[in-house]
Amino acid sequence: MSLLQCPRCRRGSLAEGQGGLQCAQCQTRFPSVGGLPWLLPEPALALGGWRNRLTLYLDEFAAAERAARADLVLAVRPSTRRRIEALAEAYHRQAAAVRSLLAALMLQALPLSHATSLAFDTRLPLAQDLHSYYTNLHRDWCWGDAENVAMHQLVVDLQGPARARVLVLGAGGCRLAYDLHRHGVQPLTVALDINPLLLLAAERILQGERVELYEFPIAPLTASDAAVARSLSAPAPVRTGLELVFADAFQAPFAPQSFDLVITPWLIDIVEEEPAALAAAMNRLLAPGGRWVNVGSLALPWRRPALRPGPQELLELVREAGFAVAGERDAELPYMRSPASRHARLERVHAFAADKLRRSAQEAQATGRPGWLQDSSAPVPSTEQVQLNAEAARIRAILLALVDGRRSVDELVRIVTEQRLLPADQAVSAVRQLLEGLHELERRGRSPS
Ligand SMILES: C[S@@+](CC[C@H](N)C(=O)[O-])C[C@H]1O[C@@H](n2cnc3c(N)ncnc32)[C@H](O)[C@@H]1O
Repeated sequence: MSLLQCPRCRRGSLAEGQGGLQCAQCQTRFPSVGGLPWLLPEPALALGGWRNRLTLYLDEFAAAERAARADLVLAVRPSTRRRIEALAEAYHRQAAAVRSLLAALMLQALPLSHATSLAFDTRLPLAQDLHSYYTNLHRDWCWGDAENVAMHQLVVDLQGPARARVLVLGAGGCRLAYDLHRHGVQPLTVALDINPLLLLAAERILQGERVELYEFPIAPLTASDAAVARSLSAPAPVRTGLELVFADAFQAPFAPQSFDLVITPWLIDIVEEEPAALAAAMNRLLAPGGRWVNVGSLALPWRRPALRPGPQELLELVREAGFAVAGERDAELPYMRSPASRHARLERVHAFAADKLRRSAQEAQATGRPGWLQDSSAPVPSTEQVQLNAEAARIRAILLALVDGRRSVDELVRIVTEQRLLPADQAVSAVRQLLEGLHELERRGRSPS
């Protein structure tokens, strides 16, 4: 509690209030979700967003089950029937298990309709969906030790002497945080993530429960591996002091200098943050002399080349953010090697340890969020992206409204050309492509990924 700071106003301390925590300064209330503190800067908005993703997840599994059962009609061979029946049953059970695991999310307010969610892009929110990194849960708590031990050992090699307050950002299924706490001596290890499916499952596992979920391997080893019933559990109970928190790593709900060791395992590779702002955010969280350990493959998703540094450039940037690099190495790590899949990766990760020498000059702007997003009464700039999206949505809406169950592709093309929405030479293929895409979604029954 003494480390917590309001992620919204970034000034107030937090105190326990009705059903959660409350900021002493801005009075924002942060609920508890499934017993874990929900410390996102806009708690209600974030809760709504994840609730919508859960609704979509359940819709997708229901659609996949329907599509599988519809395919049964076409199946002539008994082996095909058995395979499809098992898959349909797995979709059904997985949806029920996830619904029950995430019941705490649904306790407040109503979810949006599927159409509204699609319109606001909650189906593919920036990058994180409910089942992004879902397979990590199976890797963490079921496939055996190889990957977990390799990752833990790499971090232990780089972390240096024992540290009192440890923070794992983007902790996912929480196995690394668990291993660090179980085998370390620190009184406090905080595991932080934004994904409720991962964190709520991890919480139960850490409480000693067995969590039953299905794994859907990318390339099933045998027909019966298309959906594998897994029982996830921790190898041994863990002592107190391992705390799980819902929060954004880059608007973390902690006072400056709260930690002695901050670990970012496969996080900086997947978030859309400027590397310099990211280093400044780590600097803010660390006490003087504290250490930042980063591990990842540096497959940075940024499209702007300036924001895609290689390892050496990244280390320069880390030094500029007030750190001294204490260690660096390339290491080969097994990655996502499911025993039920033909697909497996071997990653050559880049790992470094950096000690905080001084405060980062960039600390004040470490959130990376523009002013109009932080202050909801400020005007929203009409950027090129906004205008482009508005125009694209208008064209799409006009075309889809013309589909009335009677017009043919030729007629649609003629109208679109007459209205000068598209040049004649491109109209045929553009209209066909849009309609084909929708048909394809329908045909596949929007199978869950
Ligand atoms: C590639 S996974 C790595 C998970 C885990 N560290 C591991 O090595 O298995 C990235 C993790 O970061 C989480 N994540 C993504 N953006 C985040 C953010 N802004 N704040 C906190 N966690 C985030 C995701 O939910 C996911 O669990």
